[in-house]
Amino acid sequence: MTDRDKRLAKKLYIKTYGCQMNVYDSARMSDVLKPLGYAPAAEAEDADMVILNTCHIREKAAEKVYSELGRLRPLKLRKSKTGGRMILAVAGCVAQAEGAEILARAPYVDIVLGPQTYHRLPEMVAQVARAGGHVLQTDFPAEAKFDFLPDAQPQGVSAFLSVQEGCDKFCTFCVVPYTRGAEFSRPPAAILAEAEALVAQGAREITLLGQNVNAYRGAGSDGPWGLAQLIPALAEIPGLLRLRYTTSHPLDMDDALVACHRDVPQLMPFLHLPAQSGSDKVLAAMNRRHRADDYRLTVERLRRARPDIALSSDFIVGFPGESEADFRATLDLVAAIGYAQAFSFKYSARPGTPAALLPDQVPDAVKSERLQRLQALLGDAQRNFNARAVGRTMPVLFEKRGRHPGQLVGRSPYLQPVHASAPARLLGAVVPVRIAAALPNSLAGEVVLAAESVPS
Ligand code: SAH
Ligand code: SF4
Ligand code: F3S
Repeated sequence: MTDRDKRLAKKLYIKTYGCQMNVYDSARMSDVLKPLGYAPAAEAEDADMVILNTCHIREKAAEKVYSELGRLRPLKLRKSKTGGRMILAVAGCVAQAEGAEILARAPYVDIVLGPQTYHRLPEMVAQVARAGGHVLQTDFPAEAKFDFLPDAQPQGVSAFLSVQEGCDKFCTFCVVPYTRGAEFSRPPAAILAEAEALVAQGAREITLLGQNVNAYRGAGSDGPWGLAQLIPALAEIPGLLRLRYTTSHPLDMDDALVACHRDVPQLMPFLHLPAQSGSDKVLAAMNRRHRADDYRLTVERLRRARPDIALSSDFIVGFPGESEADFRATLDLVAAIGYAQAFSFKYSARPGTPAALLPDQVPDAVKSERLQRLQALLGDAQRNFNARAVGRTMPVLFEKRGRHPGQLVGRSPYLQPVHASAPARLLGAVVPVRIAAALPNSLAGEVVLAAESVPS
C-alpha cells in the first residue's frame, strides 16, 4: 500500500436486513464505494462509514432501524470527539418509505438513499464530506442503476445475481411495490456478462434474484426473454454447475419455465413458491389472483416435470377477515403439499397498503395462536423432509469451511446445508455425500470417495 493509499484507506460497515435482494444490494454498495478507498470493517465501532440497509416488510423489521440508529449515535459522537468522522447512511426500503421521517427522528443521519439510487452513493458521500448537511435521495431516477454500477466483485462459490427488480402485483398487504417501484428486468446480455464474470471469479452456483423473479421479461436482441430463455443460456456457461431463482409468484409459473425444471440439469430441484394462504376468500382479499387449487395444480405440474422437486413457501396468518375455517384451509394446503421448508409470519398492517384499512383486523392473540399451530406443522414437515435424506447419497456443492477444523459446509440440491469432513481442495466442487444424520435445519454426512481414489 502506498502512503497515498493509506491516507485514503477508510472502513465501511454495512448491516443488512430483509431479503436476498438487500444482501445483493449491500454487496453492490460496497463495490461502488471501493474506488473511494472504503474497505470492509469487522465492526461498526471501527468504521468511517456505516450503512444500514433496511427492510420495511413488517413493523418489527422497520422498527429495528431506529433502535440500531440509537446504538450508533454515541459511536458517531465519540468518533467526532477524537477528530474523526463517521458517515451514517440509511438505505433500503425503510429509507424509501420513511425518508424524511428518518431525518426527523434521527437528525444525526447523514444520508438517506432509496434502492434505486445506489449508483449515486459516491456523489452523496462526497457532498456530505465537502459541505456537511444531509442528503436525501429517494427518487426513482430515469437512468438505469445497473448501467452505472461497477463490475461485481467476487462473491464466493455461491453467488447472487439480481435480474429483476420491483413489483407490479400489489398484493394488498405488501409494501414492496411502493418501496421498490415498478417491475424492471435487466437485459439478458448484461446478466450473461455478469454471470460469466462471477464464474471466472470462482462462482459455481448462481441464484437469480428478483422480487418477482419469474415475471422476468428482459429485452433480448431477438425480442423479450423470460426466465425460460435465460436459464438455458446461463446453463451453457462452462463451470457454472448450479442455478436457482427466487422469489417466484405462482401466477407467473408458465409452462416453459416448468419445462426448464425437466430439461436443464443445472437448475436445482428446489423452488420457493409463496402461497400466503390456503383460503380462496383470503387469497382474493390479498389480491393474489389465484385460488388454492390453482396453486396445487402448479405444484403438480412442477412435480410432473421434476418429480423430486422440493418446495418452500411463505405464509401469512391473521390477514384481516381470516376466520378459523380460512386458517384451517391453510393448514390443509400445507399438509397436502409437503413442504421442505417454509417461512410464516403474523400479518402486520403496513401504512399505505390497502389491507391496513380493512375492517376485521385479527387480534394479536389469535394471530399468535395460529402462527404457533402453523409453525408446528411446518416444523414437522421440515424434520420429515430432512429425515428422508438419511442413508441417501446426494451431490453436495461445498461452499465454505465449517466451524470445526477439517469440516466443509455445502448445500444439497434441495438447499439443505450439509456438513462433512472434507479437504479444502473440495471447496467449489460438487461431491457425493452419504447423509448420516438429520438435524432440524441441516444434514451431516461423509464424502463418498470416487472408486479410483479408494486405496486397494
Ligand atoms: N416477492 C415476494 C415477497 C417478498 S416479502 C413474494 O411475492 O413472495 C416476503 C414475504 O413477507 C411475503 O411472501 C409475505 O409472506 C411476507 N409479508 C409481506 N408483507 C407482509 C405483511 N404486511 N405482514 C406479514 N407478512 C408479510
Ligand atoms: Fe409483495 Fe405480492 Fe409483489 Fe410479492 S408479489 S413483492 S408479496 S406485492
Ligand atoms: Fe424488505 Fe424491501 Fe426486501 S421491504 S423484504 S428489503 S424488498
